Amino acid sequence: MLAIELTAFGTPHEVCRCIEIDAPGEPGPDEVTIESLACPINPAEILLLAGLYASKPPLPYRPGIEGVARVTAIGAEVKSVKVGDKVMSLSRNNWQQSFNLPATDVIAVPEQADTLQLAMLKVNPATAWLMLTQYADLKPGDWVIQNAANSGVGHSLIQLAKANGWRSVNVVRREDLIAPLMLAGADAVIVDGPDLAERCKAITADAPPMLAIDAVAGTATTRLADCLADDGTVVNYGFLSGDPCQMTPNQIVFRSMSLTGFWLAKLLGGMPRDAMETQYAMLSKLVVDGTLNTPIEATYGLNDINAALEHAARSGRSGKILLTPNGVQS
Ligand SMILES: NC(=O)c1ccc[n+]([C@@H]2O[C@H](COP(=O)([O-])OP(=O)(O)OC[C@H]3O[C@@H](n4cnc5c(N)ncnc54)[C@H](OP(=O)(O)O)[C@@H]3O)[C@@H](O)[C@H]2O)c1
Repeated sequence: MLAIELTAFGTPHEVCRCIEIDAPGEPGPDEVTIESLACPINPAEILLLAGLYASKPPLPYRPGIEGVARVTAIGAEVKSVKVGDKVMSLSRNNWQQSFNLPATDVIAVPEQADTLQLAMLKVNPATAWLMLTQYADLKPGDWVIQNAANSGVGHSLIQLAKANGWRSVNVVRREDLIAPLMLAGADAVIVDGPDLAERCKAITADAPPMLAIDAVAGTATTRLADCLADDGTVVNYGFLSGDPCQMTPNQIVFRSMSLTGFWLAKLLGGMPRDAMETQYAMLSKLVVDGTLNTPIEATYGLNDINAALEHAARSGRSGKILLTPNGVQS
């Protein structure tokens, strides 16, 4: 069996290696054995491997924040899934061919949904959905604005907004993304720059957005907030620029705007099981009917982990990079 192991924090493609491990034994009474089918490499993993994430796991560590898998064995007490089921894994150690985990750490997902799309279900679609619904009471026709709009989260947000009748202004840093994002369902796509607010106002003059979704931080937060109506909220969920979020006294004091942070891991940690199952049933249906679809640039086997990580850390990608620990399967 193959697994990815991290033994020191550093440049991600230099500190991870593919190792041979023993096959998992029989699952315990409340456990299942799963075979990993596909797992994305997310920016959070790049940060984690570099030692820059919220916390540093003890080493050696087997990474992999999300993935889709096939159940290959179940313990005597397990009733929630059966052998052969396709499941979303809640484990944070998915970059291995096969392993045992508590049955409560998997959620059954529809067999007919695309495996690679399901691999990305846990993090980005849920992040986009919760940010769209927890911080504003959006009504049909309302505008929302986001940056890094061509990211995985950005695509999910565009698609979920469209499906719910909300309009999205999408900020990117490359002109060549305008056409593909309009095709993906965006209502407007604009390239970031000092005059962002004027260009946004020309689009949303009828109803300036009350909600801004920020993955970039730094001065990008200031520019995004300038596009909001008074009393609007900026939800920051990433710091792709590497800089702290900046908002001005004019925005916060005189225009009564708020800045708040979103972290999916914390929300999922406190979410009751039935709410989590309902959320992922709703999102996986949208994968089945094609509403949710995240572009993919490449897939790699575990043996090619270094090339995969180097690829995932590149800017200007056309989509996500995924690992397929047991080869590409449907
Ligand atoms: N807080 C949470 O719970 C949570 C959950 C999910 C994701 N996130 C965060 O959300 C962000 C997007 O994640 P993802 O998986 O959707 O990303 P992704 O699909 O891997 O795409 C990365 C995106 O980041 C953009 N980018 C990179 N550096 C940038 C910079 N300096 N300025 C502006 N844009 C930049 C890229 O633009 P180009 O294509 O132009 O290079 C691309 O759009 C990450 O910061 C991630 O950590 C947070």
